[in-house]
Amino acid sequence: MRKTPATAHPSGPLAGEVAVPGDKSISHRALMLGTLCLGETAIDGLLTAEDVLATLSACEALGAKIQREGTSARVSGAGLGTLLEPDRPLDFGNAGTGSRLMMGLIGGHPIAGTFVGDASLTGRPMGRVLNPLRQMGVEVIARDGDRLPLTLRGSHNPIPVEYRLPVASAQVKSAILLAGLNAPGDTTVIEPVPTRDHTERMLKAFGAALSVESGPSGRRITVSGQKPLTPQPVTVPADPSSAAFPLVAALIVEGSDITIRNVMLNPARTGLLTTLQEMGADITISDKRETGGETIGTLRARTSALTGITVPENRAPSMIDEYPILAVAAAFATGKTVMKGLHELRVKESDRLAAVAAGLSANAVSHEMGEDWLTVTGRTRTLGGGTVKTHLDHRIAMSFLVFGLAADRPVTVDDIAVTETSFPGFSDCLTAAGATIRIP
Ligand code: S3P
Repeated sequence: MRKTPATAHPSGPLAGEVAVPGDKSISHRALMLGTLCLGETAIDGLLTAEDVLATLSACEALGAKIQREGTSARVSGAGLGTLLEPDRPLDFGNAGTGSRLMMGLIGGHPIAGTFVGDASLTGRPMGRVLNPLRQMGVEVIARDGDRLPLTLRGSHNPIPVEYRLPVASAQVKSAILLAGLNAPGDTTVIEPVPTRDHTERMLKAFGAALSVESGPSGRRITVSGQKPLTPQPVTVPADPSSAAFPLVAALIVEGSDITIRNVMLNPARTGLLTTLQEMGADITISDKRETGGETIGTLRARTSALTGITVPENRAPSMIDEYPILAVAAAFATGKTVMKGLHELRVKESDRLAAVAAGLSANAVSHEMGEDWLTVTGRTRTLGGGTVKTHLDHRIAMSFLVFGLAADRPVTVDDIAVTETSFPGFSDCLTAAGATIRIP
């Protein structure tokens, strides 16, 4: 895809209601579970970003019939155990979640699938998903280091396993559970550190035989395989990881006051909100309610005097995608913000730790980076004026555009097109609230 640079200019107050698109994690899962059901799954508020559309197209290749109008989709599933073998390589573009979860789905069926992606996805480690799938009987042909492009073939008799996650990863957990859905017997995943639990919640809602026990060694999630799933309507709430960008923008741009409705508030996703509130952010949560097994609510954010803090390391899984935008908030806070336990950022859409540090350097922010930590000291000098390399990473692009709105000098990112992977219309959304983002 051609790179499109964009420049964010110091902006006036951000105000009013900001519409944030549907949650990416829920959107991928809703399409995949719909594919595994016989009958129709109606999805409302689907995220229609490139990552999710790649999953939609892969689900069609597995035999699902999907009718989509805007953010509404109706999925007529192929059914558990009867997925078709795709007749083309599955191109997941930039989408780590879509590709890894789909490896589980295909790995649980006696079919072969070939996975390809863009330069970012091709560089990301897949062994974390392939290793447990190999234990379940999946055959894999992959490049050295278990990178894309790769082909896997699921077994006729998938082996139920008990697997303890070596990394805190909801993607790995979910891939194993999805494969386990078609294995005879109980498949168990043990996660020492809890990660987002959307797969468990949605599987339960679709009638899967799933149990979760929490003990001293972590969460034990067991799915009993080869039981049919029942279609359920899914209303996708707004993505808290996308809401994070206008939210932080409002905190750091003088005089701002914005509202974002229907934001998912699953506790495994709200680490950033807690952290910002500890830094002194004026964020209020109202209209909290349950829908489709998830808590949602309205967020109101007003410009705030932020103070640096030490973010507890064990909070990382609940805000793993939010460190780039937290680093931006920290650049406008008084004092030092310390972020630890960030090793997973090295293997996201980019080496996110290095990309954030480079963006901070380009814009005169005092910071220090280690192998798995970052400290940012805010407001020490005139900020901004730099150009940031996004490395095919949507969250780097959005974070530094937000940075530019509050900086002393404009900030350019080398590619805004990559924001289409998770937040279509990102620039229009912020511009409507009062931001100045120019695409030359
Ligand atoms: C996701 C899990 C996380 C997160 C990603 C979405 C999911 O990845 O970073 O954006 O929907 O399961 P990891 O499982 O690699 O931590």
